[in-house]
Amino acid sequence: MALWSGRFTEGADAFTQRFGASLPVDQKMYAQDIAGSKAHGAMLAAQGIIGEEDAAAIACGLDGILADIEAGALAFDVQESEDVHMAIEAELTARIGDAGARLHTGRSRNDQVATDMRLYAKQRATDLMAANVALREALIAQAEEHFDVILPGYTHLQHAQPVLFSHHLLAYVWMLTRDFERLAAARAAADRSPLGAAALAGTTYPLDRHATAAALGFAAPIPNSLDAVSDRDFLLDLIYACSVSCLHLSRLCEEIILWSTAEFGFITLSDAYSTGSSIMPQKKNPDFAELIRGKSGRVVGDLMALMMTLKSLPLAYNKDLQEDKEGAMDAADTLEDCYVCAAGMIATMTVHPEAMMAQAQKGYLAATDVADYLAKKGLPFRRAHEVVGRLVLRCEQQGCDLEDLALADFQAESDLFEADIASCLNLEAIVAARTTYGGTGHAAVREQLTEVKASLAAD
Ligand code: ARG
Repeated sequence: MALWSGRFTEGADAFTQRFGASLPVDQKMYAQDIAGSKAHGAMLAAQGIIGEEDAAAIACGLDGILADIEAGALAFDVQESEDVHMAIEAELTARIGDAGARLHTGRSRNDQVATDMRLYAKQRATDLMAANVALREALIAQAEEHFDVILPGYTHLQHAQPVLFSHHLLAYVWMLTRDFERLAAARAAADRSPLGAAALAGTTYPLDRHATAAALGFAAPIPNSLDAVSDRDFLLDLIYACSVSCLHLSRLCEEIILWSTAEFGFITLSDAYSTGSSIMPQKKNPDFAELIRGKSGRVVGDLMALMMTLKSLPLAYNKDLQEDKEGAMDAADTLEDCYVCAAGMIATMTVHPEAMMAQAQKGYLAATDVADYLAKKGLPFRRAHEVVGRLVLRCEQQGCDLEDLALADFQAESDLFEADIASCLNLEAIVAARTTYGGTGHAAVREQLTEVKASLAAD
């Protein structure tokens, strides 16, 4: 019989019991539920609402249940209990009798579930922040190891200007740094206690909501009881943070997939992060990078699902809110796995600097610098752009690169060209010359590396 069965004459049938239950999903929050109940029980005794012996029996009984769950000695049955809150309370009462039956004084599952979910969200945000740091470390290690390697920088996926491979990797580190901040903000959003809001209106018992908030490590109690039981913004924040980070990982993985093609050949993934084909013996596929790229769709779906669940929901608690957990848990679990997988993939990939450099020689990557050369000699930049455009056309017609043109070819387009134009065509020099803060020049990237590492150390 359910804990609320007093006014009912019939029990739920097996189907509605299963359909209405959240136990298979919310049993993951058993530790949070037990922590919340211990804080509530201790506060009830401190406020003289229940006796000290009852509170001691509750604490001891809950500790025993926690130990048994963790030892695999206690499992819950969806036909017996609708959710983790009822399962644990019923088990407690079975073990300690009336003291257990006093625990729910001044409490509702509505404030209880919101409390559990906030504790859970804070924990998962913290876990994700640690996994995010590990991925940033893997990217930074590759950036440092291959600091000087040059590859073509792209716009529109067309060769644009040469950049340092380290600069390219650090762009992802900055994205992940912002993701870390978003996860921290989601954790802060969860950091308020609904406990003591009861069903929706507060209670007639002299509860100390500040005490339970502090005991559970929350920054403060939520000031409005209706808001306390019905707010799920903190889960939207968490899933949004996961979604953005998944989008970043999908971009990174897309590049890894491209780079590991025969056409690019910039990297080779380790065998541990590749799979073969069941029919084509020669294949080595970047399955895991593809899977991470694909997982972003699922996590963004989790965000949309909860947004739609919350839309138009009247105050205060509605059973619709039970749908909040699966997607939020899935988003966090999925991103955590993606972080772990991406970190291993990046750490173990082999970089091919010669292949990157060979591509950087193609596609007239020096063109902007040649135009800048003329502009610095006084030719308006737009004019310089036209001159270099004609030089590129000349190369296209002759089937050669800018470097292959004779000084006379340059001078045929502009008499401002002198022998020192040769140094403008050197990729190392072109990269090094980008000295602006945040640019790809070696000195600027060294500075950036110091900055990104300082920000990592602070996280
Ligand atoms: N399992 C429920 C949920 O996840 C707990 C709260 C139930 N409250 C209620 N009044 N039915 O939302």
